[in-house]
Amino acid sequence: MNQIKNFSFSFFILLLVTFMFASCSKRIGSGGGSTLVIVPDSSKSNVNFSCATPAERSDYSIYKLSGDGSGVGDINYIYDSVANQFTLYYLKDVWNDTINTRHPWYAFRTTDFVNYTETSEIIGAAAGTCAQDFAIGAGSVIKKDGKYYAFYTGHNPNAHCNINKEGTMLATSDEPQRRFVKDESFTTIYAPKGIGYDEYDNFRDPFVFEKDGVYYMLLSARKNINGVWRGIICYYTSKDLRQWTFKDVFYDGGADIFFMMETPQLIEIKGTYYLVFSDSESKYVYYRKSSSFPGNWQKPDGYQRFDGKGIFAAKLASDKEGNTFLFGWNYRTLNKTDDGAWEWGGNMIVHAVTQKANGDLAVSLPQTIKNYFSGSAITVKQHSVNGSVTTTGGNNYEVIGSNGISSITFDPLTSNKVLINTTVNFSASAKDFGFMFGACDATENFYSIRFVPSQGLLSLNIEKRSTLTPVATGKTDVPLSLAPGTDYHVSIVIENSVLIVYVNNEVALTCRLYKALGTNWGLFADNSTVTFKNFTIKKPS
Ligand SMILES: *[C@@H]1O[C@H](CO)[C@@H](O)[C@H](O)[C@H]1NC(C)=O
Ligand SMILES: *[C@@H]1O[C@H](CO)[C@@H](O)[C@H](O)[C@H]1NC(C)=O
Ligand SMILES: *[C@@H]1O[C@H](CO)[C@@H](O)[C@H](O)[C@H]1NC(C)=O
Ligand SMILES: *[C@@H]1O[C@H](CO)[C@@H](O)[C@H](O)[C@H]1NC(C)=O
Ligand SMILES: *[C@@H]1O[C@H](CO)[C@@H](O)[C@H](O)[C@H]1NC(C)=O
Ligand SMILES: *[C@@H]1O[C@H](CO)[C@@H](O)[C@H](O)[C@H]1NC(C)=O
Ligand SMILES: *[C@@H]1O[C@H](CO)[C@@H](O)[C@H](O)[C@H]1NC(C)=O
Ligand SMILES: *[C@@H]1O[C@H](CO)[C@@H](O)[C@H](O)[C@H]1NC(C)=O
Ligand SMILES: *[C@@H]1O[C@H](CO)[C@@H](O)[C@H](O)[C@H]1NC(C)=O
Repeated sequence: MNQIKNFSFSFFILLLVTFMFASCSKRIGSGGGSTLVIVPDSSKSNVNFSCATPAERSDYSIYKLSGDGSGVGDINYIYDSVANQFTLYYLKDVWNDTINTRHPWYAFRTTDFVNYTETSEIIGAAAGTCAQDFAIGAGSVIKKDGKYYAFYTGHNPNAHCNINKEGTMLATSDEPQRRFVKDESFTTIYAPKGIGYDEYDNFRDPFVFEKDGVYYMLLSARKNINGVWRGIICYYTSKDLRQWTFKDVFYDGGADIFFMMETPQLIEIKGTYYLVFSDSESKYVYYRKSSSFPGNWQKPDGYQRFDGKGIFAAKLASDKEGNTFLFGWNYRTLNKTDDGAWEWGGNMIVHAVTQKANGDLAVSLPQTIKNYFSGSAITVKQHSVNGSVTTTGGNNYEVIGSNGISSITFDPLTSNKVLINTTVNFSASAKDFGFMFGACDATENFYSIRFVPSQGLLSLNIEKRSTLTPVATGKTDVPLSLAPGTDYHVSIVIENSVLIVYVNNEVALTCRLYKALGTNWGLFADNSTVTFKNFTIKKPS
């Protein structure tokens, strides 16, 4: 009760302050500098907002699409420490029966994540309707004695063939960027029979690594354990990459029951082992950590994940300098509209990854992508102000929504690649605050990238503001504890319809937002008092 009273009292003060600001429409002195108070301006209150969805563009240089505009799926990689180059294999989102092209592997090569070259087909689908690799699924590549071994999923959905839907197959190459030759002598690995596995389906995504002279293969599978079907990661071992010995369950999810833990991966970073997998149902990437091998797998101490649904089938990779990156893909939607259904495959996404003292992982914008935005700062033209917004020094905004929403919107961005930086600091928040995109007006019809202290979330919501309930679930979200009187460093990268928010070099919210560009956008505070300090917008040089 007391808290609520104090709260209404502080809102009363805010109202008073708002009123004082509102009644003073000229520059007022503030120490040595000057403060520009922007008041609701009737000449701007009803200007037309631009909120139509622009045509989706295909000119991605950071968040790559395949060269012909096809989507990118399930990434795996090989790292060349001499050239400091990553070869990033992906499943190309094409399924063309007439030319037997069903999820073939292609690859990008890069040293910096802003300049990529692209290979031609690496592994293609087989022609025969009943071939095990009628379609190609995810896998991984490992180098041994100068040869590259690609273990991949052979997928056959044709029921009349009466064969296993999924098996692990092998193709090899002398160079990582050339077509791999399928090894017909390799015995396809199928789910084991008679011990509780799903014997005909759900057996895919081989990940091969070497540890103390032994090769391990992790696979995503389903098994009935003590009467409960659960997604598990099983494993095999080998001395030569050709003869594999089945070892059963590597990790079963512990207290969590997953349908499938897809594209599993194991990696060691500075003495800690990480098991990374993607939940086929929630579409979240999760990880477990262990200080020993083969693993006493623990959940993270803090945030259970570092991004939302905007990155899937992600894998970690370290370079020779010990920099770690996360590669995944951002979904697209049916008919490329923001309320369209989730669709498999999209743009490749790269985050930098750092390890906290407790072994948890944090994500941030890779340095080379920061450097890429070295062009001059963009000046945004103010479009409208509704409610109480004050600006200091041109790039600090205080937005006080004491009785609903206050907002400032800007004209649409003029570059299709931008980096927005600001430091966010709130003193009170009963509802939420954040960034607006696709604004059709100043207070109701806009997409919100919401900081929600009461839920401990950063969330993307596209519904009308008045329909947002206190427990609304966003299109995507990521856990983020939010305390008043604290600086949160926010970087937002936008390239066409890919929009990624990074907070405090710790969590990311990767969004698909077809209205990110070409629409009015801005800052808002709903029953909150927030400053957006040092607001800058940069484009590539
Ligand atoms: C602010 O938004 C409200 C609700 O949309 C609208 O009625 C009002 O005219 C707007 N005021 C200004 C000054 O833009
Ligand atoms: C707003 O849009 C209407 C309808 O398209 C148009 O007639 C009007 O000129 C526009 N007003 C401004 C200020 O752009
Ligand atoms: C599928 O293959 C046919 C025959 O080559 C071609 O005409 C068509 O454009 C292809 N479709 C796609 C979506 O690539
Ligand atoms: C991109 O990489 C290619 C090949 O590695 C190189 O020739 C080109 O100069 C690079 N472009 C930029 C802008 O760095
Ligand atoms: C998507 O586009 C297709 C082809 O234009 C159309 O037939 C279909 O109705 C659209 N679906 C939705 C949900 O809008
Ligand atoms: C926001 O403020 C309005 C007006 O004071 C109040 O009616 C509403 O309950 C508040 N909402 C929240 C979530 O605090
Ligand atoms: C933007 O913010 C990031 C992360 O806080 C920082 O590393 C980078 O230097 C900033 N860039 C600019 C142009 O301010
Ligand atoms: C923001 O947080 C800092 C603490 O880091 C605090 O000292 C400061 O007064 C807060 N408010 C503003 C407007 O920056
Ligand atoms: C604003 O950003 C610039 C460039 O990133 C940085 O040098 C400066 O310290 C920042 N100022 C504040 C008050 O955060």
